[in-house]
Amino acid sequence: MINLENIRLRAIESSDSRFYYNWVNNAETNQWRGLYPPTSEAAAQKWVDDQAATTMTAEISDRFSLAVEIGPDTGCFEHVGFIGLRGICSRSRRAELWIYLGDKWAWNKGVGKEAVRGLCQFAFEEMNLHRLWLECDPEHQGGVRCYQKAGFVEEGRLRQAYFRRGQFRDTIMMGLLKPDWEARKTR
Ligand SMILES: CC(C)(COP(=O)(O)OP(=O)(O)OC[C@H]1O[C@@H](n2cnc3c(N)ncnc32)[C@H](O)[C@@H]1OP(=O)(O)O)[C@@H](O)C(=O)NCCC(=O)NCCS
Repeated sequence: MINLENIRLRAIESSDSRFYYNWVNNAETNQWRGLYPPTSEAAAQKWVDDQAATTMTAEISDRFSLAVEIGPDTGCFEHVGFIGLRGICSRSRRAELWIYLGDKWAWNKGVGKEAVRGLCQFAFEEMNLHRLWLECDPEHQGGVRCYQKAGFVEEGRLRQAYFRRGQFRDTIMMGLLKPDWEARKTR
């Protein structure tokens, strides 16, 4: 469990699919992501079980995923999304970070910012990774701002890399290095 100020990041349980099924079938929730066709309960369950399996042993392999929960103030936690690392490379000590807050009620309340910062801290200070990176649509202001707040900077732009909402769209590559993370902490 990664306990933060207003949220916590916990291991995923099989029962988390009851929320995920509704989230993944909501077009607005997925508007900045890949293609998500109508998804069955069985397919949603399979995805959640697959993510849960990434934390079933003490060893972290090439990826791991966590559930995002808010509400430690009241002692009653509410599951609002998922976050994770994938493509973890032990030699180059890098990984891709992803986040998916499926519960729209939780948007724009600082949850994404805190979750991304919390996972970065775990990645750099516990896993000893050196570089985190991600891709984001430059027009996805909530995403870009959220990553910038954790210290991610734009490193490049892939032109017309994704077909989304009827057109080919650019994507920006963003990265954060451990030394830059540490420098921000001491500031
Ligand atoms: C993108 C996402 C992670 C952002 O998390 P969030 O909790 O909504 O964002 P936060 O409340 O932490 O806000 C972070 C910053 O972005 C700003 N922001 C949030 N939503 C915004 C919006 N729609 N437009 C402009 N700025 C926005 C906030 O004001 C904040 O900046 P500030 O600290 O300067 O005030 C979350 O909305 C989400 O998971 N959405 C659905 C899935 C998705 O898009 N995943 C990412 C794909 S790249």
